[in-house]
Amino acid sequence: MTITLPHLYRGKVRDLYEAGDDRLLMVASDRVSVFDVVLPDPIPDKGRVLTAISAFWFERTAAVFPNHVISFDPADFPVGARPDADRRATLVRRTDPMRMECIARGYLFGGAWTEYRQHGTVQGRRMPGGMQEAEPLPEPLFTPTTKAESGHDVPLGDDEAIALVGEETFTRVRDATLAVYAVGAAHAQERGIILADTKLEFGLDREGTFLLIDEVLTPDSSRYWPAEDYAPGGSPPSFDKQYVRDYYLTVDWDRTPPAPPVPPEVVAGTRARYVEAYERLTGLDFADWYRG
Ligand SMILES: Nc1ncnc2c1ncn2[C@@H]1O[C@H](COP(=O)(O)OP(=O)(O)O)[C@@H](O)[C@H]1O
Ligand SMILES: [Mg+2]
Repeated sequence: MTITLPHLYRGKVRDLYEAGDDRLLMVASDRVSVFDVVLPDPIPDKGRVLTAISAFWFERTAAVFPNHVISFDPADFPVGARPDADRRATLVRRTDPMRMECIARGYLFGGAWTEYRQHGTVQGRRMPGGMQEAEPLPEPLFTPTTKAESGHDVPLGDDEAIALVGEETFTRVRDATLAVYAVGAAHAQERGIILADTKLEFGLDREGTFLLIDEVLTPDSSRYWPAEDYAPGGSPPSFDKQYVRDYYLTVDWDRTPPAPPVPPEVVAGTRARYVEAYERLTGLDFADWYRG
């Protein structure tokens, strides 16, 4: 599993390697972060599941917006990456990532719920009165944030986002984000899953074309709620990182590194949720992705 390509970037979850002419090899590790801190224990197969879920969605959203994917097939990877034939890597077009995270929300939850409770608004837009936590919004909203080099991302109003990226780009990525969310939400609904919200990233390639980059509609970048357990007025059970986050709410920890160890049963429970998310969303068997 050694990769001898030049190492470019180590993120919280993924590593980027140079892979030739304007190409990168993006490798999803089994690292998991909670409250922006990487936990000391990996979740086996998490990187493969995230890669498999992104593969599914990149294909299904390609008609809506072009993306960075060149190949998921190790046979297409450059020589220095061949040993990493274990299905956690993606060969992608290299871009200059936009300094804005593009979030679409269909439900009143998380930061949106906090703002609504205080001001009756979501990212500055007035919402109907008397809404409950986790209720559907009147229509899906684009609620971008900064993409912080370190620390937490900050919400951007439309005017601030336009000042950051320009009006034309703002309109393009807003429309693309809402379109990708709509594809994801409609498909998930058919599978008995609610896509509450998702975060997308876009980058500019050498030709000046905007591409959808990073990961798409994964449990790390999205909130997925099993429809059968969903009810507004609280925090619905989910397929995302809420499970492992909930464990860390029960331990005595100040949310600065290092995080306490992840107990084996929490590792196993987290892995099971990631695999279940993949299998329920796609109708495919995770073992088939792994076997290739
Ligand atoms: N096609 C691409 N071109 C350039 N950078 C990319 C591309 N796809 C993803 N990235 C970047 O790779 C990183 C992925 O690693 P991740 O672990 O998510 O990092 P972070 O801790 O910065 O969120 C992100 O910073 C993302 O912007
Ligand atoms: Mg990231």
